[in-house]
Amino acid sequence: MSHYDVIIIGAGAAGLMCGARAGARRRSVLILDHASKPAEKVRISGGGRCNFTNLYCGPNNFLSQNPHFCKSALRRYTQHDFIALVERYGIAYHEKTKGQLFCDGKSQQIIDMLIAECKAANNNIQLSTEVLGVDKKGERFLVSTPRQTLTADNVVVACGGPSIPKMGASRFGYQLADQFGLNVVEPVPALVPLTFTDGLKEPIKALSGVSVDSRVSHSDATFDEALLFTHRGLSGPAILQISSYWSPGDEITLDLAPGQDLLTELKRARVETPRKSPAVWLTQYLPQRLADYMASYVRQVRLADMPDTALTNLALMVNQWYVKPAGSEGFRTAEVTKGGVNTDDLSSKTMEAKAVPGLYFIGEVVDVTGHLGGHNFQWAWASGVACGDAI
Ligand code: FDA
Repeated sequence: MSHYDVIIIGAGAAGLMCGARAGARRRSVLILDHASKPAEKVRISGGGRCNFTNLYCGPNNFLSQNPHFCKSALRRYTQHDFIALVERYGIAYHEKTKGQLFCDGKSQQIIDMLIAECKAANNNIQLSTEVLGVDKKGERFLVSTPRQTLTADNVVVACGGPSIPKMGASRFGYQLADQFGLNVVEPVPALVPLTFTDGLKEPIKALSGVSVDSRVSHSDATFDEALLFTHRGLSGPAILQISSYWSPGDEITLDLAPGQDLLTELKRARVETPRKSPAVWLTQYLPQRLADYMASYVRQVRLADMPDTALTNLALMVNQWYVKPAGSEGFRTAEVTKGGVNTDDLSSKTMEAKAVPGLYFIGEVVDVTGHLGGHNFQWAWASGVACGDAI
C-alpha cells in the first residue's frame, strides 16, 4: 500500500502520539523517521528517566509569539490525561520536584507505551527512512523517500527542531513550512547553558563544578532553581530556564543567596562576630570555593574593618550579581528550539496550516516552547492529540 490517509514525518513524541490517536479513529497512518529507532529524544530525556509531564503545566509555562495559541490543545489534553495513560500501562513514576514527573525506571517504558498505542491503532512505522520532500498535487500529497514516493490525503510534520543535531535533529520542518508559504519565527537554541568570554570567563572556570541554589532574573522572567558553574560558563536548571528568555547582549541577575538579605546580615555580623573573615562568614550561605571567590574582592581581612560601602558591595555581589553572557552553547546542547512555524499560520484547534488544507505541524517544530520540567513533552502530547483527533 502506498497511499495513506495520513503520513506523519517524525516518530518522536508528537508524531507517535498523533499516529496513535488518528489510527484509533480508523485512519490509515504511516509514520516515517530517518532514525533507526523511534523517539530517541524521549530515550535520553530526563537523564534517561523521561520527565514526561508536569503536574502544574499550563499556558504560562510556554513561550511563543502568540502566548494564547497553546491554550486550546493544552486544555483538551492535559497532564492528567497523559498520567492516566501512563498509569494504564502500569508505569511507575514519581514527582521529583516542582511537579516534574519522572519514570521510576527507564524512559524506554514511555517509548514502549507509545509504540504499543500505535500498534493497537494499526499504525505502520517505517524507520531509517528519510523524507526528502513533500509536494501537493491536487488534493493529494506526494511524500518522497530515497526508495519510493508515497501519497497521502494528509501530511503531519512532526520532525522537531534542530537541537542536538547528532540525534538526527533537522530543519526539514522549517523547509516545508517555507515551501508551502508558512512563516517561521527564527529558531534559536533554548534551555541551553550560557557561556562567557569576558573577564568572568576564567573565574567562572575556576568555580567549575560548584552548584548553588539561586534566583536568576531577566527583564521578562525569574526562576528559583539550582545554578551550576561549568568550565564554559553557567548551567543548571536556573540558567537553562532563563536562557529561553535571554538574547545576545542581555544582562541577567544572579542572586546566589535567595531569600537572604545579606547586607542586613553582614551589618549584624560585623557587630556580633567582628573577627570573622568575610570568606568564612560567607560559607554559611555559599559553598567554600564560591565564598572565597566573592571574598577575594574584599580588601579587609576582618568584618570589623569593613566600612558600609564594602559590606554593600559584597552583599550586592551575592544578592544581585549582574552578568552579561557572551553566548550560549548553541544547538549542540540545547534541549529545545525556541521559535518555529508561526502559530498565526496554524489552527490552534487542529494544528492544520490555514492556507494548506491537509498539512499539519505539531510538537517542537511549532513556535511553542516550554519551560524546563516536562512541559515540552506535554506540548508534544497535546498538539499530537489535537491533530490526531481532527485529521
Ligand atoms: P522530536 O525531535 O522528538 O522528534 C522528531 C523526529 O523527526 C525525530 O525522531 C527525527 O529523527 C525525525 N526527523 C527529522 N527530520 C526528518 C526527516 N527529514 N525525515 C524523517 N524523519 C525526520 N522535554 C521534556 O518535557 N522533559 C524532559 O525530560 C526532556 N529532556 C530532554 C533532554 C534532552 C537532552 C533533550 C535534547 C530534550 C529534552 N526534552 C525534554 C525536550 C523534548 O525531547 C522535545 O521537546 C520533544 O522530543 C519534541 O518532540 P517532537 O516529537 O516534536 O520532536
